[in-house]
Amino acid sequence: MSLVAVSIMPGVDYFPGFLDRPLQEALRDEVLAILKLAPPFRPRMPRTGKPFSVMTSNCGPLGWVSDEAGYRYQSKHPETGRPWPEIPPTLLAAFAAIAPDAPPPEACLINLYDPAARMGLHQDRDEEELAAPVVSFSLGDTALFRVGGLQRNAPTRSFRLASGDAMSLAGVGRLAFHGVDRIMAGSSTLLPGGGRINLTLRRVTKAST
Ligand code: SIN
Ligand code: FE2
Repeated sequence: MSLVAVSIMPGVDYFPGFLDRPLQEALRDEVLAILKLAPPFRPRMPRTGKPFSVMTSNCGPLGWVSDEAGYRYQSKHPETGRPWPEIPPTLLAAFAAIAPDAPPPEACLINLYDPAARMGLHQDRDEEELAAPVVSFSLGDTALFRVGGLQRNAPTRSFRLASGDAMSLAGVGRLAFHGVDRIMAGSSTLLPGGGRINLTLRRVTKAST
């Protein structure tokens, strides 16, 4: 793991090449096994029910889901009704290397992007514990990622997140708006069939102090 951090803005750090290729391959295999137990499903927007362009799944004690009833965390897969698989130790170790002082993450959201998928500008704010960082890892095709400030209309910066790169939103950057403008199809050989997987680790409940 390479801990070279590039500060994008206060509290928003980018770790290019954080996972080397063997680690990316190990994580890919673990995620593909998780997706067999917790099959990808397509979230829908609260109220309108408009489908997301990404497919999602989760691992960890809690998983993030979204449908007409709203955004929330729950302990079971919305379609199979089974508990989410555990977060792989490799991923917990990668999280701890980036956020050594953070309480253990409870949720790992798995976002699956096909070449046409994107993610509108949003804040991660469905967690009770906003003091803990959000850490994400990218596998597969490169994404054009956008990050802004604490207001939707604040200026934004765009940069590429390639396979193996990590990101952290912490402290004053914890609620920074962010999104994915597009995926560069065919830019990586990691995933069978192409596309991109993003793994986002979050603490959800307040950590006891
Ligand atoms: C997200 O914000 O949920 C996903 C970010 C990413 O795909 O890099
Ligand atoms: Fe997010």
